[in-house]
Amino acid sequence: LYIFGQQLIQSMKVQSTTTQQDDHFLIADYDYKSTNIEKNGDKYIAKPQITNFKFKTDTRIPKVGVMLVGWGGNNGTTLTGGILANKFNITWNSRRGTHQPNFYGSLTQSSVIKIGTCNTEEVFVPFKDVLPMVNPCDIVFGGWDISSLNLADAMGRAQVVDYDLQQKLRPYLEKLVPLPSIYYPDFIAANQGDRADNVIPGNNKLEHLNTIRKNIADFKQQNNLDKVILLWTANTERFCVEDPNVHGTAEKLMKSIESSHPENQCINNFCMCCLFRRMLIHQWITIKYYCSRKKAGVFVAGDDFKTGQTKFKTCLVEYLVGAGIKPKAIISYNHLGNNDGKNLSQESCFKSKERSKKTCVDDILESNKVLYPTEEELNIDHTIVIKYCPETGDSKKAMDEYIAEIFLGGRQTFAVYNVCEDSLLAAPLIMDLLLLCELFERIQFSKDSSEFQRFDTVLSWLSYLMKAPKSESGITTINALSRQRAMLENLVKVCAGLTVDDNLRLEVRYG
Ligand code: NAI
Repeated sequence: LYIFGQQLIQSMKVQSTTTQQDDHFLIADYDYKSTNIEKNGDKYIAKPQITNFKFKTDTRIPKVGVMLVGWGGNNGTTLTGGILANKFNITWNSRRGTHQPNFYGSLTQSSVIKIGTCNTEEVFVPFKDVLPMVNPCDIVFGGWDISSLNLADAMGRAQVVDYDLQQKLRPYLEKLVPLPSIYYPDFIAANQGDRADNVIPGNNKLEHLNTIRKNIADFKQQNNLDKVILLWTANTERFCVEDPNVHGTAEKLMKSIESSHPENQCINNFCMCCLFRRMLIHQWITIKYYCSRKKAGVFVAGDDFKTGQTKFKTCLVEYLVGAGIKPKAIISYNHLGNNDGKNLSQESCFKSKERSKKTCVDDILESNKVLYPTEEELNIDHTIVIKYCPETGDSKKAMDEYIAEIFLGGRQTFAVYNVCEDSLLAAPLIMDLLLLCELFERIQFSKDSSEFQRFDTVLSWLSYLMKAPKSESGITTINALSRQRAMLENLVKVCAGLTVDDNLRLEVRYG
């Protein structure tokens, strides 16, 4: 057994001259090998280089609280109930038999990382064991919803979790009631109005913001928390009508909240609270407005959770382009029957969703100038259709057609039918976002012996989990799924003092 910070890690211990550890910190030295490219006429000159980095991880695990905006929705109830089922080891029956709780679909809890080889055998350990991470079962949950249903009744309304598990979770969930929230009906679909019975009264946006700030402070104090993470999992809001005088800087935005300007979404108010309290947020639709976010040190990762269809898209297109095959059209139909689908049936909300879904293959296509030598060719048919069909419930049907050009003008067509039990995919992913974001707040790096600094507030390391990830300014966003995963895995390994895997396996071939 190996004590790592306050957490007991049973799987591994790094023994190396390039890592140091005391009671609070693990410091790993890493020689990063990259290649600098210079252009000389029509030739590239490649110059390999090595840069020294140090990664310092605070190994003390904080007590974490999570506040969800939209707590009573499908994601909110599934996440809270799923974690409680794991925490109290609640089993339940369905027509398939007796089920044990698990965290399938969670990168941190249910996937593994190769840490090396033992003789010729590859050795893998759970992702969560490589660095000290918060145990999801220790998270305290809270949050807001415009609907007043307690979480047990809200879980029933969501129709996601097996009935028997709902009944077993009822004693835990019925005590959990969302706080009243900010509700600006103009920003979500009109069809959501009939559940909005739990709203902060009045039209004064500054008072709304102050109420939310107080809610957060109370939650932190009442639960004796070291850290609070706020995550938006409420309905997709329509974009605001952009106006640099209103949204151009954090100061202007604050002024517009003070004057209750109509073009401010609810999410803006929640984001402002984060800026005040230096908290972590993940779905930040209006990120570009917050010029002072660097100073505030709030982490953002991007828009929307990358669960079923988009994950598959960024995997399949990466495979095709990597194989030298040229995707020419992607036509995606979604039949969605949950409340999210109902909200998206209004065009203005759909437009926000369409934007987050549409850009996900751009960088993959752009990387291959053999297949796409001109801008025009990059403009492939990429169509997104979402239809609200209540009968589908949370079992979203994604029907995608991929048409690609192969050798000598031939065509390869994939017709993919993907039934995503949507919230059962989203909940573990949301949990990963929370856990990884918390971990990355405890990591600092130093380049060439400079002072240690925190990661950039735009946390592109988490792009694997985001439908429309964001990147630090000037840096290309990566959407290709395997690259996103490799980036995350390698970062965690490097911070732990492990070697990054280039898959050459020379130690096995010629060891
Ligand atoms: P949902 O409609 O079941 O839940 C959203 C909740 O937000 C509702 O309970 C609603 O009452 C509440 N809400 C709306 N406006 C609010 C406000 N201003 N303040 C507080 N609460 C508010 O939707 P679901 O399925 O949980 O999805 C949530 C978000 O996650 C949506 O943006 C959706 O597009 C996104 N998403 C969902 C996935 C899924 O599998 N469920 C997958 C990927 C993304």
